[in-house]
Amino acid sequence: MTSLMTPSGGARTVRGPGPLTDADSFVPRHIGPRPHDVEAMARYLGYDSLDALIDAVVPETIRFRRPLALGRGRSEIEALRSFRQVAGRNQIFRSFIGLGYYACLTPPVIQRNILENPAWYTAYTPYQAEIAQGRLEALLNFQTMVIDLTGLPVANASLLDEATAAAEAMGVAWNTRGTHERNIFFVSRDCHPQTIEVLRTRAKAHGILVVVGDHRAFAFGPTVFGALVQYPASDGAVPDFGTLRAALDASVTPMGGAASEATGAAGRDARHAAETPILVVAADLLSLTLLKPPGEWGADIAVGSTQRFGVPLGYGGPHAAYFSCREELTRQMPGRIIGVSRDADGRPALRMALQTREQHIRREKATSNVCTAQVLLAVMASMYAVWHGPAGLRRIAERIHRLAVAFAEGVHRLGYVVTHDVYFDTVRVELGRRKLSELLREARAQTINVRVLADDDGPPAVSVSIQETTTLRDMADLFAVFNGGLPAPFTPDQLADEVGAEIPEPVARRSAYLTHPVFNRYQSETEMLRYIRRLESRDLSLTTSMIPLGSCTMKLNATAEMLPITWRDLSRIHPFAPREQTDGYSILFERLEHALAEITGLPAVSLQPNAGSQGEYAGLLVIRRHHESRGEGRTRTVCLIPQSAHGTNPASAVMAGLRVVVVKTDARGNVDLADLRAKASLHGSELAALMITYPSTHGVFEEGIREVCDIVHAAGGQVYLDGANMNAMVGLCRPGDIGADVCHLNLHKTFCIPHGGGGPGMGPIAVAAHLAPYLPGHPLADVGGVEGIGPVSAAPWGSASILPISYMYIDLMGAEGLARATKVAILNANYVARRLETFYPVLYKGTRGLVAHECIIDTRPYKASAGVEVEDIAKRLMDYGFHAPTVSFPVAGTLMVEPTESESKEELDRFCDAMIAIREEIREIEEGRADRQHNLLKRAPHTLEQVVSSGWDRPYTREQAAFPAPWTRLHKFWPSVARIDSAFGDRTLVCSCPPTDAYADETVPAGSPRPARAAP
Ligand SMILES: Cc1ncc(COP(=O)(O)O)c(C=O)c1O
Repeated sequence: MTSLMTPSGGARTVRGPGPLTDADSFVPRHIGPRPHDVEAMARYLGYDSLDALIDAVVPETIRFRRPLALGRGRSEIEALRSFRQVAGRNQIFRSFIGLGYYACLTPPVIQRNILENPAWYTAYTPYQAEIAQGRLEALLNFQTMVIDLTGLPVANASLLDEATAAAEAMGVAWNTRGTHERNIFFVSRDCHPQTIEVLRTRAKAHGILVVVGDHRAFAFGPTVFGALVQYPASDGAVPDFGTLRAALDASVTPMGGAASEATGAAGRDARHAAETPILVVAADLLSLTLLKPPGEWGADIAVGSTQRFGVPLGYGGPHAAYFSCREELTRQMPGRIIGVSRDADGRPALRMALQTREQHIRREKATSNVCTAQVLLAVMASMYAVWHGPAGLRRIAERIHRLAVAFAEGVHRLGYVVTHDVYFDTVRVELGRRKLSELLREARAQTINVRVLADDDGPPAVSVSIQETTTLRDMADLFAVFNGGLPAPFTPDQLADEVGAEIPEPVARRSAYLTHPVFNRYQSETEMLRYIRRLESRDLSLTTSMIPLGSCTMKLNATAEMLPITWRDLSRIHPFAPREQTDGYSILFERLEHALAEITGLPAVSLQPNAGSQGEYAGLLVIRRHHESRGEGRTRTVCLIPQSAHGTNPASAVMAGLRVVVVKTDARGNVDLADLRAKASLHGSELAALMITYPSTHGVFEEGIREVCDIVHAAGGQVYLDGANMNAMVGLCRPGDIGADVCHLNLHKTFCIPHGGGGPGMGPIAVAAHLAPYLPGHPLADVGGVEGIGPVSAAPWGSASILPISYMYIDLMGAEGLARATKVAILNANYVARRLETFYPVLYKGTRGLVAHECIIDTRPYKASAGVEVEDIAKRLMDYGFHAPTVSFPVAGTLMVEPTESESKEELDRFCDAMIAIREEIREIEEGRADRQHNLLKRAPHTLEQVVSSGWDRPYTREQAAFPAPWTRLHKFWPSVARIDSAFGDRTLVCSCPPTDAYADETVPAGSPRPARAAP
């Protein structure tokens, strides 16, 4: 008999493995090397067995020597059957709750060919742009869609959710306008409550004063640096915000004094504009097909969710948020921007633009800590716009609006007061003498959820949000709810015929949108399917070859783990549906929290943060709250961070209001203990926390980790362990046992959520018992600790609908399988390191000459010997059919390789063979047998077009260029563009689809591409 993870944390007994069970174990499906390979590889490394190797790698002082209390693994069929029962405990009501989440229809062509397609969901963030042109184009479409619909000239390629996007916008306003004296951020009380609370959480750490009020009555003065309004308002109203912009402009005195002749009145206006508060608008993108876009009435920034563009509700996410702004704010913009540049042949090519703003480079000076965003969901939303086109989107919006008008007319005839005259999809209904409890009882009887508006002074009210899925039957049922359970004396069709549904003039949209051919060309399924497949074929994903990205853990995302994602029991639930309807999700959360607590050795878990960066931010706020509770909140504000840390660590520390002090690393890549002691003592009473990644970003189990934790604790600080490298720890050692107080887990690394081309992810935090009371809460759900920090995500459980992936992984693997996966991950990394070390220096190793789950290959010597940069090697690997390892992190000029346990020995050997062959190509340059400029590396990657071109004039053969290894003849992956010039595109940013003639010419005209443009 064995145990499974159970809600109570206790053990549920089940029948153990026997001849009639376990027909097919999942563990060997997940783990790449076959058992005989594992033995051979261990022997190659000089050890009798895998366990002997692991004993040599993992310091005994931190070793966890019992099996995890997670029970045995299951077969795929068994686990799916069991989880189906859990999911079936959810009840699917028709939710008309709104609040930024709307039921919508995922076009089947998008569901099957993107959401359920590993070629799309297993790709990584497009760092290697030449083999990522497909998703880059889809993201450029996303940006164009956002730019057109919001009427602002620049957009990014997604953020995490609407509420955090609003908080990021407040951050931009603060960075550009805020000061200690000017520290008020006004928030309209008509914003969604979760957005208001996420802003409050974010504001507190910076001393920003969030004032929530009525924008019509508020006296904007010189202490206001920005304002946020919701459009349409949370309760449905569509106000004319024209006067708000004027009020904000008037709140700062125009700069007086004699303007110099050179600047004159125009200069004064520009300076005045640079002083005026930033107006942020949280706008519903679909409504903007009918409503005047924020860019046309004075918004500086627009944010919002693209969920209703074909992405399921999924109990809160993942969904892509958007962010667009005026050009002046471009360099302050958070998140990634896709831009147009050119390749070595002068053809248009896409890549991530302005990367120098990112936390990877700017650390504590970054514009934001956002790293993983919501790429897959942004791709889906953009494809929804491509599929429907401007006319189709307008049709969907008009139908919704018409139904909303019919609904308002119907409830009016039934004797209710409809509060607002102008609305898009959400109708606020005052209940008058009708009892709320009765209405809700009728709603329950009809399996309908409406939103109850908690208004302090006014009469009880509810709102009903009409959505794409709403049918005439739904309308009839809604009327019955408002008619005491009886059918209404009219039909929705009659009402729709009788009332007009025109949006009135001051707020009606008159400008065109989505005029680019891409939004007008692919509306037959044949064309759409081919478009999706064409883009897909330009991207290298795990379906082609291993992606050995260190610190990113590109392991198998098994089909059985992914299947539940589109189950209706999980995908059709509104995040604010009453808890009694979501038993299935509750069981999932409880079991997953229990499992993660057991794996980390930290007893309390919050599933709210929806990326690793957000886990860091949440964990640090929890630590701050802990110090506050001891009366040390104001003094303990220093965060120690080793030099080698990932850039999100310092960026998150700053977001949490902490001051970053860097700790040195020694020659072996370990934290320099002497420097740590000195800094801990220097900042003693100011020390809030140390952030440390374990095993270190140098890929080594530092022996001194316990001492590190002791030093920090002795100075009164807390230890934050960045769990991005948890794949080296599961089942072998636990953060809590080592001395960590908080740890985040990237479920999109260790726990199998696919990277989706740069998101979604999940970054839950696990904390020690003394920090449990401070876990994040939420205004609309009973979650978090008793004295919890405010919410850090829009939804109470973050991106809940992808948690089944991690749940399934843990259930499939069981305690033994999880530990074996960790061991093989370590074995694979050491195997690669050993095979390559005679060709390339391996930078950091532990005391026994071994690495953890990743290794750093030093390519710096070849710059001097052959003029070869690390980038050249990365690009040449594409010709061999591989995605490069992580480039220049944590050490510039190196490659960090993380093979994971899922790669077979054959694949590891292929990769090593490619690296070794490239080393020989470098040697040819070193020995003068190849030219220092015109060689296989400098001119990589090679496109099909180049190779077949009749003008081939390179001093190496076409065959050497394109078919450098035997396997490339069996399956050749062609980069779709040649080497991309990033700097060129950054000089003049183009972040929306260029006109098609740019492609027709096939070259970017000299001079530069079209600059960021206004909406047509
Ligand atoms: C060491 C480390 N910490 C933190 C992060 C940030 O996680 P996320 O991208 O989920 O925000 C990463 C991401 O790659 C990482 O490698």
